[in-house]
Amino acid sequence: MFRSPVARQAVKALNINTRPAAVTAASRPAVANTFFRGLSSTAPRANDEAEKAKKDPLLSATTKAPEGTIDAEGRFARVDESLQIEYPDDEHMPRSPVVQGRGGMHFKRTLAQFSLENKVTLVTGGARGLGLVMAQSIVASGSDLAIVDLNKAEAEEQAQKLVEQFRKENPGLEQMPNVTAHYADVADPTSVNEAISEVIAKHGKIDNLVTSAGFTENFDAISYPHDRLQKLWGVNVDGTYLFATGVAKHLMERKVPGSIVMIGSMSGAIVNVPQPQAPYNAAKAAVRQLAASFAVEWAGHDIRVNCISPGYMLTALTRKILDENPELRDKWISLIPVGKMGTPEDLMGPVTFLLSDAAKYITGADIRVDGGYTLT
Ligand SMILES: NC(=O)c1ccc[n+]([C@@H]2O[C@H](COP(=O)([O-])OP(=O)(O)OC[C@H]3O[C@@H](n4cnc5c(N)ncnc54)[C@H](O)[C@@H]3O)[C@@H](O)[C@H]2O)c1
Repeated sequence: MFRSPVARQAVKALNINTRPAAVTAASRPAVANTFFRGLSSTAPRANDEAEKAKKDPLLSATTKAPEGTIDAEGRFARVDESLQIEYPDDEHMPRSPVVQGRGGMHFKRTLAQFSLENKVTLVTGGARGLGLVMAQSIVASGSDLAIVDLNKAEAEEQAQKLVEQFRKENPGLEQMPNVTAHYADVADPTSVNEAISEVIAKHGKIDNLVTSAGFTENFDAISYPHDRLQKLWGVNVDGTYLFATGVAKHLMERKVPGSIVMIGSMSGAIVNVPQPQAPYNAAKAAVRQLAASFAVEWAGHDIRVNCISPGYMLTALTRKILDENPELRDKWISLIPVGKMGTPEDLMGPVTFLLSDAAKYITGADIRVDGGYTLT
């Protein structure tokens, strides 16, 4: 359950920790920038390890430097095991607003192949956060939409809002997109199959899939509760697998092309600091590799499968966590080359592109939308 005391605890943990996990140019230890060693110098002989470390700049700059003698190399890239952030209960979840003014009628020339007209797209986890905003870009690009979420009431509410927003942005347009809401627990095969059948019954078909249902939470690896570990992998990995295979089977039966976009994370490629999240990182690496494997397996069926790996994105939920953890926010931002977090809107273009014919020859790709985080 998400409790702000937990978040406060995290801040406290960060504050009391003597090993800052993120580095800014200003806070980088001078020794890293200024030490040099003459070509002819030899390491001084000393009996005392600490004294030896102090005198030898090379030795003192390694992680092997005795504890407490000098700042150890690598201290900024370490996980802080005391930091815990649990995924909130549904009732504590902040709501996501529908994006204003990003769709709509426009007369700017662009390629017709970016259009998703005459398609039906299913988005898992589409009631909130990144899934909701990507769903909105899909509707704005001409596709009908099925939002599938654990939280059906919110999915229904957002489906209505998406159509209202579309109507506002497209005055005079007679045909409104067909946007429906459906329940599924993506980790449960029966629930997934029922949802897919329900969507096909309502829309007649499914052409595209975006798997955005997923979550993260932070516990150190040793004390990660086993039931939560299974749930995390169940939603992030099984959920992606089950929906992708279910929709691919439907496309193969219809003998039509399709496009699948899986939402991974930069955490599938790097290890985030300072928050400990080994199972999430492993889950997102699995998502990326599933996308690549399915891309190869289904290439002969004209089904493209790609992955989008977002960096730190400001959703209603991350905004709430970071508002309560300003230290964590500052540390995250200090590690992003572009110097700011992403917004859900930053995924609107990439997801539309990958679903559309503009990406017809792209399959098995992983598009990182992370402000350059994974480059450094
Ligand atoms: N927000 C970020 O910074 C960020 C960064 C990288 C990757 N991601 C990934 O993007 C995806 C979306 O994240 P978000 O930030 O929008 O999260 P979110 O919590 O705002 O939204 C997730 C949605 O998924 C739904 N969901 C959760 N469990 C489900 C289940 N078992 N079955 C069906 N629906 C379920 C929730 O009800 C919610 O509507 C996740 O896979 C996440 O790991 C997020």
